[in-house]
Amino acid sequence: VEFGVCSQLCLLRPWLSSRLPWLDDNLSGTSGMEVDDRISYLEQRLQLQEDEIQVLKAALADVLRRLSACEENGLSLQRKGPTKGTRLQSSSLRAAQPTPWVLSSQRAPLASLGSSHLGAQGAGCRAWRAGRSEPGGARGQGQWLPPRPPRPNDPCPYAEDGYVKMFLRGRPVPMYVPDALVATYSLDTKLELPPKKLKLDWVYGYRGRDCRANLFLLPTGEIVYFVAAVAVLYCVEEQRQRHYLGHNDDIKCLAVHPDMVTIATGQVAGTSKDGKPLLPHVRVWDSVSLNTLHVLGLGAFDRAVSCVGFSKSNGGGLLCAVDESNEHVLSVWDWQKEQKIADVKCSNESVLAATFHPTEPTLLITCGKSHIYFWNLDKGSLSKRQGIFEKHEKPKYVLCVAFTENGDVVTGDSGGNLYIWGKGGNRISQAVLGAHEGGVFGLCVLRNGTIVSGGGKDRRVVLWGRDYQKLQENEVPESFGPVRTIAEGKDDTLFVGTTRNSVLQGSLATGFSSLVQGHTEELWGLATHPSLDQFLTCGQDRQVHLWSVATRRPLWSKAIEDAARSAGFHPNGSVLAVGTVTGRWLVLDTETRDLVTIHTDGSEPISVVSFSPDGSYLAVGSHDNFVYVYGVSEGGRKYTRVGKCSGHSSFITHLDWAADSSCFVTNSLDYEILYWDPTTCRQIPNAGAVRNLEWATASCVLGFGVFGIWPEGADGTDINAVCRSHDGKLLASADDFGKVHLFSYPCCQPRAPSHAAGGHSSHVTNVAFLPDDSLLDDAGGRGLGRERARIMICGRWMEPAGDPGAPRRARV
Ligand SMILES: *[C@@H]1O[C@H](CO)[C@@H](O)[C@H](O)[C@H]1NC(C)=O
Ligand SMILES: *[C@@H]1O[C@H](CO)[C@@H](O)[C@H](O)[C@H]1NC(C)=O
Ligand SMILES: *[C@@H]1O[C@H](CO)[C@@H](O)[C@H](O)[C@H]1NC(C)=O
Ligand SMILES: *[C@@H]1O[C@H](CO)[C@@H](O)[C@H](O)[C@H]1NC(C)=O
Repeated sequence: VEFGVCSQLCLLRPWLSSRLPWLDDNLSGTSGMEVDDRISYLEQRLQLQEDEIQVLKAALADVLRRLSACEENGLSLQRKGPTKGTRLQSSSLRAAQPTPWVLSSQRAPLASLGSSHLGAQGAGCRAWRAGRSEPGGARGQGQWLPPRPPRPNDPCPYAEDGYVKMFLRGRPVPMYVPDALVATYSLDTKLELPPKKLKLDWVYGYRGRDCRANLFLLPTGEIVYFVAAVAVLYCVEEQRQRHYLGHNDDIKCLAVHPDMVTIATGQVAGTSKDGKPLLPHVRVWDSVSLNTLHVLGLGAFDRAVSCVGFSKSNGGGLLCAVDESNEHVLSVWDWQKEQKIADVKCSNESVLAATFHPTEPTLLITCGKSHIYFWNLDKGSLSKRQGIFEKHEKPKYVLCVAFTENGDVVTGDSGGNLYIWGKGGNRISQAVLGAHEGGVFGLCVLRNGTIVSGGGKDRRVVLWGRDYQKLQENEVPESFGPVRTIAEGKDDTLFVGTTRNSVLQGSLATGFSSLVQGHTEELWGLATHPSLDQFLTCGQDRQVHLWSVATRRPLWSKAIEDAARSAGFHPNGSVLAVGTVTGRWLVLDTETRDLVTIHTDGSEPISVVSFSPDGSYLAVGSHDNFVYVYGVSEGGRKYTRVGKCSGHSSFITHLDWAADSSCFVTNSLDYEILYWDPTTCRQIPNAGAVRNLEWATASCVLGFGVFGIWPEGADGTDINAVCRSHDGKLLASADDFGKVHLFSYPCCQPRAPSHAAGGHSSHVTNVAFLPDDSLLDDAGGRGLGRERARIMICGRWMEPAGDPGAPRRARV
């Protein structure tokens, strides 16, 4: 064994340098790759190597475990002789290109095998099988038997053991077939598509954090905005949403045509599941039928489309767009013909708004970091006049622009000033200094000609008369954050989007209350209530929200000290646990949101918190590779540490309890499946002994009941979560490609067929079924038939796309 490990480590060095050709290159040389490309290339390389080192570490840990098992049993190393047990490591190394997973299972009927093969009676065949058939190594029945690779004509091919083995990045993952299925199970059986499909029902959240001018009221009474890859049409009065799902990655900008029906949305560059680039583009669609009318600019934009705008006079036949290339190219399109008629490098500083003048058909205005430009469109060319600030303070950013009835241009800037640029000119004709404390983030000219401005730092919404006298003001409550954008509603209603991804409704007279809420950063924690139509989300933004499915609003929200990572309800629903990234975990009262208790285990993120089905244990799985087990009493009010489960060589990713609470199973990042006794925190070495257990949940991504979710070429990190429906018939998975897949359960055939649903932009981090599909029906959910499984999904909130070439794969 030692020899094997050593030789593998020695192999590593030449192997690494063969993979780092750039080490020998001259970076300033003539390779022709741009620095950005090179950096992203290096990042990808690094990623690959990290993955492989991970596998190598796992293999090492495995060897160490075997050694200690061997020592425990008092076997002398000499007796075993030299081993060839390094197959694992070398296959890991070969897995540089993610190996498509391979299934190895019996060709002969499994039935003949029975389940006694784990008895490890004596040596030879049986011994080999028992040794090999323990996940991750030989731990069977406390007897360590030297692994021996199969020889040609080996009378006992190692697959004939009633388990299925798949390979993820060269690492074998053996999974037991339950006895009840052994007789009939065959890898070749075709699984049926699930009888149900997914339809997007509700989207929580709004993207206000880094996008502007993206909230409008349509004549249908719906407000339109976007989040992730979905454009949402939300009818507030009827509490109904419709969704435009034509985009395949994050939407970053939105514009409404003067006809108030046609909408344009622009998206970022992405990467498809098979690694192909998804090009940034603009989609023009009909907000009544939701049909896509035109797709513009595939191949014409770089990185992302960050601004779009329709022309307002001339029937709105033109569309302008700005991309996120270094030069921020401004282009003008005849959108009905899908033809570009002009483009120009706008600025190499960020551009925050681009808009046509409402009455001058050839005038466009762009603004952003230290600039405002007035563009004249003349026969396919755009010529620029800079806005001249003269004696006025030149702002760091010109943040927003609007037009008054008489054609004046009004801008709001980071200095808190409003500047009025007289119609047709590029000079300031009037200034309202200190309109806000901090930046002016949003401007909206109302139907009656008054102007509303929204403040960043001061969160104030101020109404200005035509003569720029302050008429009225109100403030957005602090918890919703600064104003991002303002839209006029019916009568005196205003809609306010905020940078904390909320949409508020209200008026200057009455103030504002929340309509749409979301998280602002990466979101991983998701748990559904065991019996009520409620669910909990918690994320990097340190916010915990308990949501009501009926009202689509939080029942309560709580700010906590640390970024949160995981969540789980006590089976009677009275308390819930939240795991954070610092190793701290807390228990909250579901009703009052009061803190029940707080504990710290390790200092790494808590990836899973899970109560046993009988409510008597809490398992806390951490990135420090341990699972901490607590005894739970007094209905979830009292916690006593039972112990720490050690054995994994990488961090815990998923955990499921047996239905009778006698045992739980864990998955780790290095694809191990281990079983544990909660009363002792000891590993159950004989995985065969638990093969017939019924599991309360199916959230582990590795296991016999779920392995069909893995697509060809998967590397084991592309699926972040799975869950089983309460009737046990469906399985849903959440992947890194913006999709939720619905499978039939059990999902134990390779590459099982599924229905996919989109809406997320890239990483879907978690998925969970609500307790009872019928509840919402009873509460009057229109058109929500029982034939539809309802799933709550949460996604990773992507930072604004920087370099599209940079790797976007999540490190789980
Ligand atoms: C790298 O290329 C530059 C410019 O061609 C040259 O001056 C320099 O000596 C080279 N460095 C090495 C280490 O080859
Ligand atoms: C902007 O681009 C121009 C050339 O187009 C260049 O001269 C200038 O240095 C750039 N400015 C910045 C800040 O990158
Ligand atoms: C204009 O409309 C706003 C919002 O409806 C209202 O608050 C304001 O009083 C109106 N102003 C005038 C001058 O009509
Ligand atoms: C949960 O259990 C505790 C203790 O047994 C009990 O006080 C509480 O009422 C239960 N809550 C629910 C919702 O059943």
